[in-house]
Amino acid sequence: MTDRPTPDYTTSMRSIRCGDLRADDIGTEATLCGWVDSVREHGEHLAFVDLRDRSGVVQVVVDGGHELRSEFVLQVTGTVRARPEDTANESLATGMVEVAAADVTILARSEPPPFPIDDRTDVDEVLRLRHRYVDLRRARLQRNLEVRAAVNSAVRGAMEEQGFIEVETPMLIASTPEGARDFVVPSRKEPGSFYALPQSPQIFKQLCMVGGVDRYYQIARCLRDEDLRADRQFEFMQLDAEASFVDQDDVLGFISHAVGAAVEAVTGERPGEFPRMTWLEAQERFGSDKPDTRFGLELVELTEVFAATEFRAFQAPCVKGIRVPGGAEVSRNRLDELTEQCKQWGAKGLVWMRVEAEGLNSPVVKFLADDEMDALRTAMGAEDGDLLFLVADERRRARHVLGLLRLALGRPLVTEGGLNFLWVVDFPLFEGFDEAGNPIPAHHPFTMPHEEDLGLLEAGELLEVRSQAYDLVVNGWELGSGSVRIHRREVQEMVFATLGIGAEEAQSKFGFLLDAFRFGAPPHAGFAFGMDRLVAILAGEENIREVIAFPKTQSGADPLTGAPTTIDDHHLDELGLRVLPPKQ
Ligand code: AMO
Ligand code: AMP
Repeated sequence: MTDRPTPDYTTSMRSIRCGDLRADDIGTEATLCGWVDSVREHGEHLAFVDLRDRSGVVQVVVDGGHELRSEFVLQVTGTVRARPEDTANESLATGMVEVAAADVTILARSEPPPFPIDDRTDVDEVLRLRHRYVDLRRARLQRNLEVRAAVNSAVRGAMEEQGFIEVETPMLIASTPEGARDFVVPSRKEPGSFYALPQSPQIFKQLCMVGGVDRYYQIARCLRDEDLRADRQFEFMQLDAEASFVDQDDVLGFISHAVGAAVEAVTGERPGEFPRMTWLEAQERFGSDKPDTRFGLELVELTEVFAATEFRAFQAPCVKGIRVPGGAEVSRNRLDELTEQCKQWGAKGLVWMRVEAEGLNSPVVKFLADDEMDALRTAMGAEDGDLLFLVADERRRARHVLGLLRLALGRPLVTEGGLNFLWVVDFPLFEGFDEAGNPIPAHHPFTMPHEEDLGLLEAGELLEVRSQAYDLVVNGWELGSGSVRIHRREVQEMVFATLGIGAEEAQSKFGFLLDAFRFGAPPHAGFAFGMDRLVAILAGEENIREVIAFPKTQSGADPLTGAPTTIDDHHLDELGLRVLPPKQ
């Protein structure tokens, strides 16, 4: 991490931190406080103790008779001296020195820890979280928390440099529509009524804009009741921002600056300008709205090649393919697995072809005309030894399946191969239709349609309508999203109506926002990105749990506090609640 002024860590109990001792300190007296990382007895009269605090470990030489155990908390005073040459440890920052203890005080004893405190041991997740306070002592988590703090601080600084002011928004609110389930809190004063916990500060930040706060930001806690995954927790932090009198480019600039500052704070290097790609191009080339641009295997358009084909399977609105350079060696078993996998993703099938000197080798070659195979090879740029995969289907489905296949074939770990940031712009306003036939907003219902596409909206060509929404993607992870908002009441009403939210429902759910728009709402736009995701990527972690001090397990439990827990009948009574027996 980039250098910041070193704080003075001296306190009434210690003179220096364990990990800060260097050859320069030889000959001085030091008082250290920390945990016993390990003890190596050397006969009856001598023990070598690795003493650990947040800064690292240092070797302490203690005379016998202290009965020291792992994770005891000690205060040690002694003289810093050079280690005998053959025992110096170059891989340790303090490896040239040791402290000859004159005085050892046991500040606290410890039971044997539930698991070893090192970064090598693979410990069960529930056990780790149950004793998170022990887990946090490991160097990996200590470092992750430092990365996290550095990112928080850099992002805060960057937003403030750009004139954003921090505004705190409430936790007990009415529902915010971000598309996940709300966590709710029962009201005691009004039994039967509930607050929702914010899925994001979305509505409040827009109200701030109406309130004349023209550059708002907050590192905001958000809560969403959804299935947990490597990049998802129930509660998480966003850098949330909103600004007035701005367009998309302004917002992209503000956010790029903040993300760049975070990257620089951790890696020491500021990333170059983030490239941009439209949503449509991302879908056509990568089959995803969050393309991982660290590797190739791009989707190739083949619809024209098979426009007049006799092969039934390819008589579809869209045919696309992927070329795997040098992939022809792949086993038949693996090909069958991939085919099965694609079917589970919704494909009707998967055609594979080995490119060989004699021609294409595939079970479907017999159905294809020679000129089709020639055109296919040309379109794909196929060379001997390559493997080709083809899918024919509706365009959206063909892209989707090949996008997933591409990841299955070539995706590196999220932490490998640098940081590929990418702005994806021009998202569609709607991503499809729900069971009731209502369109589903791709972002949220306050997103401004593209001015040029308002006609399409009125004409009902819903899936064609682009929005002024944009995402920031890094290594195939969605880091954040935002949009230019609707600030005109009549456009907002039209979008609600299109979503199947009637005037009455709109008024009851978001009436306060629509009302606010009657009192001079400035044009505004904003963005939010996931702090946990950014920190995880910068800390080299695949799971955001590793960069959260007290996360939940995959099933949403907290093994440390036991949450969620039942509450007693008296409390339920007060809230006017009754718990039903679990559903069968
Ligand atoms: P969105 O819903 O896309 O947008 O959320 C923004 C970013 O928050 C992070 N994120 C999560 N991180 C961890 N766990 C989760 N469960 C989780 N859910 C979301 C992601 C995501 O990209 N109000 C809009 C932003 C706006 O329009 O200004 C919003 O919340 O990194
Ligand atoms: P079929 O004609 O259904 O026996 O399919 C012949 C081959 O084409 C099989 O290998 C299928 O997996 C494959 N296939 C069938 N439909 C599609 C499709 N829509 N896209 C790609 N491959 C397909």
